[in-house]
Amino acid sequence: MNRRYRKTIIAGNWKMNNTLSETRSFAEQLKPIMPRGKWCTVVLCVPATNIQSAVRLFKDCHIAVGAETCHYEQKGAYTGEITPAMIKEAGAKYVIIGHSERRQYYNETDFTVNKKVHAAVEAGLIPIICVGESLEQREMGVTMELIAYQVKCALAGLAPEKVRHVVIAYEPLWAIGTGRTATAGQAGEVCQAIRTVIRKQYGAHVARSVTIQYGGSMNAKNAAELLAQPDVDGGLIGGASLKAVEFVQIINAANQE
Ligand code: PGA
Repeated sequence: MNRRYRKTIIAGNWKMNNTLSETRSFAEQLKPIMPRGKWCTVVLCVPATNIQSAVRLFKDCHIAVGAETCHYEQKGAYTGEITPAMIKEAGAKYVIIGHSERRQYYNETDFTVNKKVHAAVEAGLIPIICVGESLEQREMGVTMELIAYQVKCALAGLAPEKVRHVVIAYEPLWAIGTGRTATAGQAGEVCQAIRTVIRKQYGAHVARSVTIQYGGSMNAKNAAELLAQPDVDGGLIGGASLKAVEFVQIINAANQE
């Protein structure tokens, strides 16, 4: 983390979990234990049906709400999809784009990720852009090239003053939902490489402002060590964000001096 130049952001990714009533009980558990007046920004990315209620439920504990995906068109015949403007009007501030599960199961490509990033930014949402390598790619030694390619594709055509405000989440595929976390060294190394890619494209001023998260089996036990890396500015947290107590423990780790 480096709070001097950029925000530390702890974001939960609920994926396809929690109904409206479950969201209410989560809020009831979270509110009394949520730290106040601290430094890190907290976000919960929830299923689309929960966005409006979540905005209301989490408002007084200063948790921003995000969506988990969006379409890149502003309207049209895309049954089942939602636009950034719909998400924004529902009260959300963030949207996850290019999560590996979307890339894997819904054919999202670096090309559609780029279009979605543009659409989200134009609608006034902050995109949390996910990048990450598979185990095979890591073993082949192409992690850095792949990540650089994904980051460049996602941001292509975006003005530098817009790039400053995006969030990048480095999520190695082999660590997502597997209980197998990247070591702090591995996470730090790739997050640093991402910042270098941004520096080369957009300059030092932009690069130092971008929040770069780590994601992949981050939990209450390993959060502090991962966040101690200078280029790891937060976490995108799946499983552990479904448990209020553990989620707060991660937030506390991010609030340490
Ligand atoms: P996980 O998920 O924390 O359950 O590994 C992270 C993610 O998919 O964003």
